[in-house]
Amino acid sequence: MGRILVACEFSGIVRRAFAARGHDAWSCDLLPAEDRSNKHITGDVRGILDDGWDMLIVAHPPCTRLCNSGVRWLSAPPAGRTLDEMWADLDAGAALFSDLWNAPVERIAVENPVMHKHAKARIRNYQEPVQSVQPWQFGHGETKRTCLWLKNLPPLVPTNIVEGREPRVHHMSPGPDRWKERSRFFPGIAEAMADQWGELPLQSDLFERATA
Ligand SMILES: C[S@@+](CC[C@H](N)C(=O)[O-])C[C@H]1O[C@@H](n2cnc3c(N)ncnc32)[C@H](O)[C@@H]1O
Repeated sequence: MGRILVACEFSGIVRRAFAARGHDAWSCDLLPAEDRSNKHITGDVRGILDDGWDMLIVAHPPCTRLCNSGVRWLSAPPAGRTLDEMWADLDAGAALFSDLWNAPVERIAVENPVMHKHAKARIRNYQEPVQSVQPWQFGHGETKRTCLWLKNLPPLVPTNIVEGREPRVHHMSPGPDRWKERSRFFPGIAEAMADQWGELPLQSDLFERATA
């Protein structure tokens, strides 16, 4: 069983899916874990990327300045913000994505919305995403197109195509925690990752077999 790091996750949704299949799965976020798990590291994930992980799953790094839907702010900033601040946010978001994408881990998945050209140009060793998925392909009657940038991982195969096609935001009530609800990972996609990727040969398995 592998050592799995789920980065930028406070909800524990992907961590729990891998843990349920016997993996040594950890989450890391600047925020504490909602489920108060002792397998959560609160802090900057960049400090633990070298700690011998078999798989790194980034369940949606902060994307406001990287994704197509926010590109307009780079020419006309929102009220109260300057253009310089917008570009500095973009640099910071792209630097984090870059560090995660180039982490010393054999198998990597990064999940994020469609990215604009200014973000792509700032990411080291950038490659186009291998696929995009929708929650309605994994049992949730919602739309939210999500791209997957994959290293040494096969594309996810849909597990349960359902009828509903409502944008996720329609399910949310307004309030200070709305961003959290919107960014929470879809359990159906987490289950598919754990089923389809958790069975792949991992460095830890090879090491255990060699030393048995
Ligand atoms: C869009 S949310 C993703 C939430 C995730 N899908 C979940 O279900 O918990 C992005 C998260 O990245 C975290 N984050 C931002 N920078 C980080 C860093 N350097 N290290 C670890 N987490 C970070 C934020 O605190 C935020 O919770």
